[in-house]
Amino acid sequence: MVVIKADLNYIDDILKIENESFIDPLKKEDLIYEINDNPFSNFLLLKNDENKIVGYYNFWITFDSATIYRIAIKKSERNKGFARFLLQYGEKMLKEKGVEFLTLEVRTSNTSAINLYKSFGFQIITLKEHYYENGEDAYYMMKGLI
Ligand SMILES: CC(C)(COP(=O)(O)OP(=O)(O)OC[C@H]1O[C@@H](n2cnc3c(N)ncnc32)[C@H](O)[C@@H]1OP(=O)(O)O)[C@@H](O)C(=O)NCCC(=O)NCCS
Repeated sequence: MVVIKADLNYIDDILKIENESFIDPLKKEDLIYEINDNPFSNFLLLKNDENKIVGYYNFWITFDSATIYRIAIKKSERNKGFARFLLQYGEKMLKEKGVEFLTLEVRTSNTSAINLYKSFGFQIITLKEHYYENGEDAYYMMKGLI
């Protein structure tokens, strides 16, 4: 497995995973913005030994804090520890940059992601009611890095 910086050569692979992973998937132009233009974005891809993209992790850094914008693993490659691997990789980068805490919002129905984040040391800080477009609530979670 290898982690690389996202680039436009992989946009169709990313889009495919995005579409099978989220009920509100990003569009191609949103992904292009994240890869090429968003100055806060850190967009990582996880590649397997056959050179195929199995998942990605995009976090935004603003000064001493960072937020998880997207993390997703290809459906056929889930439950193999890949998301945890990406979170660990990202955490190392964040610590090297002196970032002090990492936050996220997650749908209250997304048990697999909530379990992943809890097992990685995140705590639920509060509930954000009707956070998503379909009216679903979000948990706001945080992990201190220092
Ligand atoms: C959430 C997601 C990223 C997890 O990826 P993954 O590579 O399958 O996760 P891992 O194999 O690294 O699992 C790590 C931990 O997460 C939790 N977890 C992952 N999948 C789970 C599931 N289906 N049910 C319960 N817990 C789960 C477990 O605590 C697991 O630890 P364990 O294996 O020791 O029990 C993946 O399911 C996904 O892409 N979902 C769609 C996109 C999404 O919801 N992203 C998060 C919101 S932005």
